[in-house]
Amino acid sequence: MNELSATVLLTAVAAIVIRWCVSLNSYSGEGKPPMFGDYEAQRHWMELAYHLPIKQWYVNGSNNDLQYWGLDYPPLTAFHSYVCGIVANSFNSSWVALGESHGHESSQHKLFMRYTVLLADVTIFFPAVFVYFYQCSRGTSQTKTLAGLTTLLYPGLILIDHGHFQYNSVSLGLWLWAVTALCLDSHLLGSVAFVLALNYKQMELYHALPFFAYLLGSCFKGKENGLWKFVKLGTVVMVTFGCCWLPFLQDLQVTQQVVSRLFPVGRGIFEDKVANVWCSLSVLIKFKQLFSTSSLLNICLITTLCASLPHVIDLLWRPSLHRFKLALVCIIG
Ligand SMILES: *[C@@H]1O[C@H](CO)[C@@H](O)[C@H](O)[C@H]1NC(C)=O
Ligand SMILES: *[C@@H]1O[C@H](CO)[C@@H](O)[C@H](O)[C@H]1NC(C)=O
Repeated sequence: MNELSATVLLTAVAAIVIRWCVSLNSYSGEGKPPMFGDYEAQRHWMELAYHLPIKQWYVNGSNNDLQYWGLDYPPLTAFHSYVCGIVANSFNSSWVALGESHGHESSQHKLFMRYTVLLADVTIFFPAVFVYFYQCSRGTSQTKTLAGLTTLLYPGLILIDHGHFQYNSVSLGLWLWAVTALCLDSHLLGSVAFVLALNYKQMELYHALPFFAYLLGSCFKGKENGLWKFVKLGTVVMVTFGCCWLPFLQDLQVTQQVVSRLFPVGRGIFEDKVANVWCSLSVLIKFKQLFSTSSLLNICLITTLCASLPHVIDLLWRPSLHRFKLALVCIIG
């Protein structure tokens, strides 16, 4: 084994051990009826996806009360739940029994759920981190290893995924694969990876503007025929989207229902459990009393676009990887 593989292996083992130690603790909502927490939300989606026809996944019905953890993530999350649901059912069908498994808790089931998160993390996020730092970052191999290790040991991600219980490493991993592909000058593969990330968690929309601006800008700055590249990128994006959404596109009502579940504008721009800048500001200014929901939504959209506009224009005009990475960081702030 050469030195690089040994380093990667040791780094991965260290990252896995820390994750496993965290996951031995309880998850959020453990033993707290009636709603429990995100662990139950994920388990419930496995139950729904396994038992219900695909068209009913996002629709309220006698077997799918949307008030009880209705699915509100994009199709790839639902497909992931479906696959996990099949595996869960093959281990012990009581884990995903329709209606009867609500709030199911057992040590065996917890072990299974923890393994699903670890597997997704190690297969999607880990390799993206290694390829990104060893192929796309500058510096000595020692600094690359340290950067990779620091990223893998980032406490926020470990605590939320392996403690609290979520699958952020999937969308984050796909996003990092997309950035890596762009760094390696593979714009088509990068587009596919980013569309997949977006279709796992709609939160990735935050990153969409820099991707769009960088790719569009680079269409018309490169040596290649810009229009042809633009057509290729557009086709790849639409085909990937189409594959993710195919089962929900055959019936317009179903499509509308999925979209309204993903962007629940009727519920307002923030809810008590979801924190964002509007939520923090509302302590000082009571937005919800001053404006209607639809005007609040417009304010949100306009302020976000205005804040992003400067580096989006800059990226369109002078696309470079360095500016692209800066814009990705900017937009989150
Ligand atoms: C959704 O379905 C549940 C269970 O059948 C029902 O109690 C609830 O009223 C329905 N909600 C809506 C908004 O139709
Ligand atoms: C399935 O899970 C239930 C509930 O935890 C348990 O009572 C049962 O023994 C399990 N069945 C098997 C085959 O492990």
